[in-house]
Amino acid sequence: MQKKIYRYGIIGTGRKHRSEGSTGFGMAHEHIRGYQRTERVVLAAIADIDPEAANLFAVEYSPQKVYSDYKEMLSKENLDIVSVTTWPHLHSEMVIEAANAGVRAIHCEKPMAVTWGECKRMYAACKEKGVNLIFDHQRRYLEPFQRARELIREGAIGDLVRLEANTGDMFDWGTHWLNMMFFFNNEVPARWVLAQIESHTGRRVYGAPAEDQAICQFQFENGVRGLMITGADSDIGCAIRAVGSNGMLEILWGDPSLRYIRRGDANWIVVTTSEGIHGGEAIPRAAADMIKSMDIGGSTILSADSVIHSTEIIFACYESSRRRGRVNLPLDIDDSPIQDMLDRKLIGPDRA
Ligand SMILES: NC(=O)c1ccc[n+]([C@@H]2O[C@H](COP(=O)([O-])OP(=O)(O)OC[C@H]3O[C@@H](n4cnc5c(N)ncnc54)[C@H](O)[C@@H]3O)[C@@H](O)[C@H]2O)c1
Repeated sequence: MQKKIYRYGIIGTGRKHRSEGSTGFGMAHEHIRGYQRTERVVLAAIADIDPEAANLFAVEYSPQKVYSDYKEMLSKENLDIVSVTTWPHLHSEMVIEAANAGVRAIHCEKPMAVTWGECKRMYAACKEKGVNLIFDHQRRYLEPFQRARELIREGAIGDLVRLEANTGDMFDWGTHWLNMMFFFNNEVPARWVLAQIESHTGRRVYGAPAEDQAICQFQFENGVRGLMITGADSDIGCAIRAVGSNGMLEILWGDPSLRYIRRGDANWIVVTTSEGIHGGEAIPRAAADMIKSMDIGGSTILSADSVIHSTEIIFACYESSRRRGRVNLPLDIDDSPIQDMLDRKLIGPDRA
C-alpha cells in the first residue's frame, strides 16, 4: 500500500549556522534535513519575516510556497506537520495558531516558551485539539543516553536515588538536561523544587532571560532527587550523573560519553558507543518517530507530556528564588519569575 505523504511546513527558516547574516543556529535546516530523510513529506510551504532568509532556504530546499506571514501560510496550506523553529518568545503563539489551523503534528524547538502561562496554554491547546506536540530535546535519541537509560532500568547502579546535572543555564541548555532527567526517571513528575539563582549581568539567550548561576534541588514523585547546577564554577565532573543505591553512572561531555561504577569496584566500566552526546542523527530520528506516530498513532519520545513536567522545574526554580522558599508543584503561577525579578530590579545589573 502506498504510504501517505504529509504536507509539511516550517515557521522560521533562519539562515544556515555561521552563514552570512545568520541570527542563530538555523535549526530549520536541521528539521528539513530530518523530514526529507523520511521521504514521507512534501515541503508544502515555509514562512519567515526575513525575506532573504526565506529565499535562501527556498533555493536550497524547493518549497512549493514561500510566505512572510506564517498565519497566512497556516490558513491556506492545509498542513499536516509544522516545525516551529523561531525564538522562544514566539513559540506559544505560533503553536496555538497552528493547532487552531488544524495542523495535526507540531515539532517545536526547545525551550517551550518564556512564561509558565504560555507553556500551559500551548500544551492545553494541543491537548484539546488532539495535536501531537513535541519539543526538540533530540538527544534522547542518541546512543549514550539510550544506553544510560537501559543501564539504569536494568539496575546496573541499583535503585535510582539521585540525578545531577550541570550546564550553562536552566532555561536554554538546562531544558535539555532536565528533560533527560525525566527520561532517565521514567517521566515521573516532580513534587517540589527548592532553588536559588544569581543574576548580575542580565544575560539573555535567544532573547529570553537566563540566570548567571543557579542551584536547583527537586524531588520526583517516586522519591528520586534531582540537582541542577548552572553557570560559572558549576562543574560537577560530568554532564549528567545518576547516583544509585549500588553505584553511579555518568554522561561525560567528551569521549567516552558514558561510564558507570558499582559500589566496591575500583574501576569505571566504560560503555563504548558509536556516537557522542551531540550527534547529528538525533533530529532525523525525531522526524522519523514523528512520521511513525502520524501513521500509527501514539506519542513520540519527545512528547510535550514529558516536556511540560521538565519545563515546570525551570519556572519553579525561578519562582523558588522569587519566593525565597520551596515551591510545591503543580506550579501555580502564570508569568516569568526571572523576568519579573529583573523588571523590579531585585536581580540583574540594575539591582537596587
Ligand atoms: N535543539 C537544539 O539543540 C537547539 C539548538 C539551537 C537552537 N535551538 C532552539 O531553536 C530555536 C530557534 O533557534 P535558531 O537558532 O534556529 O534561530 P534563528 O535565528 O537561526 O532562526 C529563527 C528564524 O525565525 C525567523 N522569525 C522571527 N520571527 C518570525 C515570525 N513572526 N514569523 C516567521 N519567522 C520568524 C527569523 O527571521 C529567523 O530567520 C530557539 O528556540 C533555540 O533555543 C535548539
